[in-house]
Amino acid sequence: MTEARGAATFRTAAPEAYDRHVGRYSNLLGAELVRFAGVEGGQRALDVGCGPGALTRALAERLGAAAVAAVDPTAPFVEACRARVAGADVRHGSAEALPFDDGAFDAVVSQLVVNFMTDAPAGVREMRRVARPGGTVAACVWDYADGMTLLRAFWDAAREVDRAGAAARDEGRVMRWCTPAELDELWTGAGLRDVRGGELSVEARYASFGELWEPLEAGVGPAGAFAAALDPERRAALREELHRRLGAPDGPFALDARAWAVAGREP
Ligand SMILES: C[S@@+](CC[C@H](N)C(=O)[O-])C[C@H]1O[C@@H](n2cnc3c(N)ncnc32)[C@H](O)[C@@H]1O
Repeated sequence: MTEARGAATFRTAAPEAYDRHVGRYSNLLGAELVRFAGVEGGQRALDVGCGPGALTRALAERLGAAAVAAVDPTAPFVEACRARVAGADVRHGSAEALPFDDGAFDAVVSQLVVNFMTDAPAGVREMRRVARPGGTVAACVWDYADGMTLLRAFWDAAREVDRAGAAARDEGRVMRWCTPAELDELWTGAGLRDVRGGELSVEARYASFGELWEPLEAGVGPAGAFAAALDPERRAALREELHRRLGAPDGPFALDARAWAVAGREP
C-alpha cells in the first residue's frame, strides 16, 4: 500500500515549523471540532493523527487529560504532543492500525488527517472499531479547493511559477476525501450511522507576510515541500506572487480558513 500523497511531508517536520504554518489554525479548529462532534464531560476520547497536539489539548480541556488518548505516525509530533498535553496517553501509530482496544472510546476524532491516510476507508473502519456502541466518530478536512485561503492562494500562485509541478501537487485537485460528498461516502461506507456534515470556520492572524512565508521555506506539508524544492529564483517569484494574491499586506493581517466536518455514530 503506498502512502497517501503528501503524508511523507510531515515525517521530518519540526513541530515548531508546523505550529507557524497550518498549526496556526489548529487550536481554534480543534475547539470547533470538539463542539461539532458533541464531546461532553465524562467521556473518553481519542485524537487520530494528533500532530503536535492542538485537538488533543482541546479534548483535554473538555475532558481532563487522563480521559484523552492520541496517536500519530510522526515521531517528533508524538513527542511534542506528549510534552504539551501532560497526562494524555499519546502513542506512536497509524490510523490504519490503531494501537487501542475495541470500543475503548466514547468519541474518536481526527483533524486534518483523513486525506493523508494511506488507506482512508481502513483508517475510518479502525476509528469505528475503537468507538463504543453509540459512540461518535468525527473528522474535519480543509476545503482545499476553495475556502482554505492560505493553501488556495499558495497553489494558485504556484501554478504561475511551475504549472505542471503545481497541478500535480495542488491538494485541492489531487487529494481525495476533501469534499462534503466524499466525507459522507467515507463515513457511510465505513458503516457509521446518522452521518451528518458541517462547516467549521476559523481565522489565523499574522504579524507580517514574512511570518507566513518562513515556515513554507522550511518545507512543512505539501505546500512547504513544493516551495523548498524550487530553485531560488522561482522560489522568490512564488513568494512575490503569493504576497500579491493575498492583497500585498505590509503589516499584520488575518486569513480565513474553512474545513468540512463529518460525524457519525457507531451502531
Ligand atoms: C495536517 S497534520 C494535522 C495534525 C493535527 N491533527 C492538527 O490538527 O494540527 C496531518 C497529520 O496526519 C498525520 N498522519 C499522516 N498519515 C497518517 C496516518 N496514516 N494515520 C494517522 N495519522 C497520519 C501526520 O503525521 C500529521 O501529524
